[in-house]
Amino acid sequence: MINKTYIKLLSAAAFIAAFTFTMPSSQAADGRALKLMESDRTIVVAHRGFSMGAPENTVPAFFWGKLAEADMVELDFYVNKEGTLFCLHDRTLDRTTDIRSTLSLTNATMLDLTDAQVRKLDAGKWKNPMYAGTPMPSLEEALIAIQADGGMTLAEHKTGSAAQCAAVLTKLDCVNDLIVQSFNWNFLADMKKVLPEQITVALGPQNEIRGVKLTAEQKVMDKTAVDEMLKLGVAGAAWNKQLTPEGIEYAHSKGLKVFVYTINDIKEAQELLAMGVDGIITDNPALVWKAIATK
Ligand code: G3P
Repeated sequence: MINKTYIKLLSAAAFIAAFTFTMPSSQAADGRALKLMESDRTIVVAHRGFSMGAPENTVPAFFWGKLAEADMVELDFYVNKEGTLFCLHDRTLDRTTDIRSTLSLTNATMLDLTDAQVRKLDAGKWKNPMYAGTPMPSLEEALIAIQADGGMTLAEHKTGSAAQCAAVLTKLDCVNDLIVQSFNWNFLADMKKVLPEQITVALGPQNEIRGVKLTAEQKVMDKTAVDEMLKLGVAGAAWNKQLTPEGIEYAHSKGLKVFVYTINDIKEAQELLAMGVDGIITDNPALVWKAIATK
């Protein structure tokens, strides 16, 4: 009985999400991401959408992230053969699509595919048969869905140029209504040149800096890492759990927010909040709200 009700709710959500998916972007840019970065409260980010329950990087997961009142919905994007940016996390499409059966391809990357090929893929049924038929959204389609009604995106660049990313943000008039992040710090430097006003966040740790491989200790977010990030003109850092109170305090003293990924445990979230992080990136935003409420 509970399962049937749950499935009905999910179907309703998928319907609403599909509707949202086709909605035109009607809101003028209001700099909402700038305002969020200025606020003092904890920021909750739905990682790849509400990816614990719905297929990551698809509109149903984005919709659920918004429904769970995440401050931002995170997504990842890659460029394809035709220069279109599509939402995907992994380097290849095998884990989260049916590319092997639909296109008879294995280990293909986004760059190998045309728009038409990407449109043929099912990005939902791997997660659960109830999501069969869920398409891969382009970055543009994802932003239209997420940014509607005051929503906010944390868009993680995987591949594609700063110019290609900036073109989408400018077209949809959402500069500073969302945040762009990347592990590729050269891309972040390019973003500053192409679209200087756009807020960016640096993802870490890096594996190397200027060709020098970092040791495990050097991957902890410390003064050196923060000073490197400051050169990029970013507004914050998004780091894994290799954080210390001193590193966070130093980042704060330089005006940077610190986000941590990917936290799916209440106790761990509470420990990180006590350490001073400003935002938590999670596959389950409801869990983080509970961690905040019960800390
Ligand atoms: O948002 C941070 C997180 O997404 C970084 O890791 O592997 O999911 O891109 P990854």
